Amino acid sequence: MASMTFDGIGKTFPDGTVAVANVSFAVADGEFVVLVGPSGCGKSTLLRMAAGLEMLNSGRLLMNNTDVTETEPQDRDIAMVFQNYALYPHMTVYENMAFGLQQRKTPKRKIDELVRDAAEMLDLTRYLERKPGALSGGQRQRVAMGRAIVRHPMAFLMDEPLSNLDAKLRVQMRGELKLLNQRLGTTTLYVTHDQVEAMTMGDRVAVLKPVFNGQDSNLQQIDTPQMLYDQPANLFVAGFIGSPAMNFVRVELNAEAGSLRGAITGAEISFPVPAGAALSAYAGRQVIAGIRPEMFQACPEREALFNEQIAVAEALGADTFVFFDIPSPPVNVNDAEDSFTHKGKNRLVARIPPALTPTPNQRLPLTVDLEKLHWFDPTTGVAIRD
Ligand SMILES: Nc1ncnc2c1ncn2[C@@H]1O[C@H](COP(=O)(O)OP(=O)(O)O)[C@@H](O)[C@H]1O
Ligand SMILES: [Mg+2]
Repeated sequence: MASMTFDGIGKTFPDGTVAVANVSFAVADGEFVVLVGPSGCGKSTLLRMAAGLEMLNSGRLLMNNTDVTETEPQDRDIAMVFQNYALYPHMTVYENMAFGLQQRKTPKRKIDELVRDAAEMLDLTRYLERKPGALSGGQRQRVAMGRAIVRHPMAFLMDEPLSNLDAKLRVQMRGELKLLNQRLGTTTLYVTHDQVEAMTMGDRVAVLKPVFNGQDSNLQQIDTPQMLYDQPANLFVAGFIGSPAMNFVRVELNAEAGSLRGAITGAEISFPVPAGAALSAYAGRQVIAGIRPEMFQACPEREALFNEQIAVAEALGADTFVFFDIPSPPVNVNDAEDSFTHKGKNRLVARIPPALTPTPNQRLPLTVDLEKLHWFDPTTGVAIRD
């Protein structure tokens, strides 16, 4: 078992690409930490550095408080599972799982014990004599996991291990992997671009963003899934975590008789703003408000904050997503799945109960619990919070 510390880690490739800049975080012994972010944000590079497959340009990597920055991959006692987990097609499941141990000259009897234990845990016992070609995708993925498990490493490093599976199997496997982590208690660093996978699997989730010129770090926030959702550190995290994504609107803040009022830029929509000290300091300026789709509520017309024609309604059964435009400039969040823009308008999405599903072009009066709004600095994107 192991703790892992990333201390100011940076990686610039010879061609000048800055893949990772100034990343610092610690993974506790037994913890399951997920690295999540869009393609190109440096997830695989970070994992490969942890494995020792990629050298660092700056910073240190510690395992159990020992500096392993210069340690060879084979001496780090970690097991890696990739998206493309090539199994040996001519070997049985048993032989595939035993192979790494044989290479390490583990005694035959010990190998047998380790392989059978892992097979039991992964529900593969009855397939031990089969070849990979005669297994389903999920079973093959479990064999790949088995190869890692039999080594009883100090830590698992997994790079999008479920990406090749179909949606249903992915959901099942993510539950199984999580259970495995709880049973084995092995420290796990897990990479995915899928925020739902990150949220459902991680004890904590590290949100990464591609590094741009002058930006100091890819690491935007590392916290529990609930904290990322409730208190995103900035616009990027707010827009990345949650599906559909958080809506962002520009709001002019004005002090009026000792309290604050917000007016949505360009739209004739204004509302009282329950503000603490941090937000009050923005009086007289434009800020960005964040509204999660689930924060909207249908209401009588006279109480409506928004009362727009519905452009699209997507009925998913349990919920309906309704999309509508407000005449306000859109907010673009770097690379995040932000509210998409439509003819210079800001398109918002609300999640409502299916019974309320409107017909297209019908108006839908909606209100928002103003206490729950998220607020962001329009220049830095940093959350405004007391
Ligand atoms: N060997 C390499 N040489 C140059 N650039 C690379 C190399 N490997 C990765 N990169 C670049 O580094 C950045 C991070 O890549 P990567 O860690 O693979 O991201 P992710 O896994 O999050 O998609 C990307 O811009 C990628 O193009
Ligand atoms: Mg990758």
